[in-house]
Amino acid sequence: MSEHTVSTPGWHAAWLPDDAFASLGRRTVVVLGAPGDGAPLVATVVAELRAATDRSGGRLVLADGDAASADGDLPRADGDTPDLVLAVDPAAGLPAEGYAVERARGTTRVTAADDAGLLYGLFHVVRLGEGAFDDALAPSRHAPAHAVRMLDHWDNVDVHDVMGQVERGFAGGSIFYSDGALRDDLTRVGAYARLLAASGVNRVAVNNVNVHRTEARLLTDRLDDVVRLAEAFRPWGIRVHLAVSFGAPMTLGGLATCDPLDPAVADWWTGTARRVYEAIPDFGGFVVKADSEGQPGPFAYGRDHADGANVLARALAPYGGVVHWRAFVYNHHQDWRDRKTDRARAAYDHFTPLDGKFDENVVVQVKFGPLDFQVREPVSPMLAAMPRTHLALELQVTQEYTGQQKHVYYLPEQWSEVLGWEPWGDGRTVSDAARDVVAVSNVGDDRFWTGHPLAQANLYGFGRLAWDPALDPADLLDEWVGLTFPGADPRVQDVLRDLMRGSRATYEQYTAPLGVCFMVGPGHYGPGVDYYEYSPWGTYHFADRDGIGVDRTRASGTGYAGQYPEPWASTYESLDTCPDELLLFFHHVPYTHVLHSGKTVVQHVYDTHTDGAARTEEMARRWSDLDGLVDDALFGRVRELLAEQVRSAGEWRDQVRTYFWRHSGVPDERGGPLY
Ligand code: GCU
Repeated sequence: MSEHTVSTPGWHAAWLPDDAFASLGRRTVVVLGAPGDGAPLVATVVAELRAATDRSGGRLVLADGDAASADGDLPRADGDTPDLVLAVDPAAGLPAEGYAVERARGTTRVTAADDAGLLYGLFHVVRLGEGAFDDALAPSRHAPAHAVRMLDHWDNVDVHDVMGQVERGFAGGSIFYSDGALRDDLTRVGAYARLLAASGVNRVAVNNVNVHRTEARLLTDRLDDVVRLAEAFRPWGIRVHLAVSFGAPMTLGGLATCDPLDPAVADWWTGTARRVYEAIPDFGGFVVKADSEGQPGPFAYGRDHADGANVLARALAPYGGVVHWRAFVYNHHQDWRDRKTDRARAAYDHFTPLDGKFDENVVVQVKFGPLDFQVREPVSPMLAAMPRTHLALELQVTQEYTGQQKHVYYLPEQWSEVLGWEPWGDGRTVSDAARDVVAVSNVGDDRFWTGHPLAQANLYGFGRLAWDPALDPADLLDEWVGLTFPGADPRVQDVLRDLMRGSRATYEQYTAPLGVCFMVGPGHYGPGVDYYEYSPWGTYHFADRDGIGVDRTRASGTGYAGQYPEPWASTYESLDTCPDELLLFFHHVPYTHVLHSGKTVVQHVYDTHTDGAARTEEMARRWSDLDGLVDDALFGRVRELLAEQVRSAGEWRDQVRTYFWRHSGVPDERGGPLY
């Protein structure tokens, strides 16, 4: 049991406390033509509205008739003009899952493309609060920028001896599994699905990409567990996906091979997929980590990743399923003495020659950066190099390298930068290049869901940005605060803004500097400047007495910079134009190299580490202002975690500063302590 696990039932309401529905619940609400047969999401909407109006004294009317009939004449609710009318109107010309909101003659009207659109439209009204009933409400239309907005759970069924119940999980155990089995009571999974639906997520993969023995069987004799999970997610418009092992034809099917070109292997996948769809007709598809960190894959048979992915895709295609095939393929048995191999190059080198060879229902899933969810790395060049492949962008909500839900780190600031990045410098963005957006969940059985209560904002922000990548993270933060702390003293918003805005920059200040990456210790928490330096993982900074950084230029380095299209290939190649924050990712420079900021590298490191750690102390002080203004348990949890953040940031500061001093011999001109 983790320290965060609570034994009493009950969990924090996150962004859907009853009070968030109060404005809506006081009103007279009409749902037109509801609930239709075969429209379970309309039933969900009706149930939400019924609960809200019962709680707050409003009225819900279910009216017959289609949306069109109400166009001119709004339905009367016993003589009252309704405050809110919701209707599905497939003829309204809205994209799938979309909805329009307008207000006229005292009524706010939500018109949805389909029943999913109705659900999202309902949560839109919840977000607006009183604003939804303001006559000044401007008409608006909404549709998701990404059709698939997915969370991957790295949950194990059996507790793994090294990785535990949830791999890289920092919020207690799994909400799905406990002690080797699916939980009997899935009420909490339903509550989770509701939160996700309110943020815009519509897919969930229910097990770890490292598929161990028991988890592999979710595909076959443990399929009933997936059926039950699908039932819990279905009322919220969320389809379930399963991580499967490429080796399953051998380990589960008893075949002598899993060669993707062997007909018996293809047959095994076909039969297996058929049985899955017989049990779960709306099953989403498979997620596969192959030839990666020890997982089996097509390389063993001299086949490529298109061969591997396509055999699974063909088994799923008749049912509309997809394969999310991960591009996280690199040599994790590298010899640190080998200065030529560059892990950052690997995904691009493996996958881009295969552009155009993947079946239509293969989605190649690419981590946002070429390494591994670091606080600062450039955006993966692969996202700009596979125009004939359906790509998904992979993000990490779980804070593996970003403070493990002990540090405040508001991730939407980073994601928004990634989604809006322009690989060709011409207005087209990463969000345009990647059709799906996927992230690793940060949720566990912790009563606050995410360990650090403020990390809930990351989960919320992921769904919202996957729906609309143009949303401003600062606005999203306010939105989350408004929903989570309805009616709170205005100081709550002030303090949360102060703590969370810019928190990514703060974390970056006191950890690995200037894009150098991987200065983490065991478990990827806390400083370990040289911990990975002589390891097989391909994660090096090459510090010596003269300088630091990885030469990834075409001219003299690994050539990685050349994987970018222009203007970035040249921008990163040249010391004159490489942005400071990525300098050490692309270049090996002397400690006294002068940055565009005018400071030397070493003085920059001294200053940012001093300032970043000092900032965490201010954050802790600011939080104490909220004593008595938020729930005591939440207040106490955040206070405890801020104390740990302050401690950890101080450790980072002292180790990194001292390391640079010992290697360079350059004193800190501001004179801070060096050891
Ligand atoms: C990281 C992480 C692993 C995970 C892997 C992946 O390397 O540390 O725990 O399995 O990413 O994305 O597959």
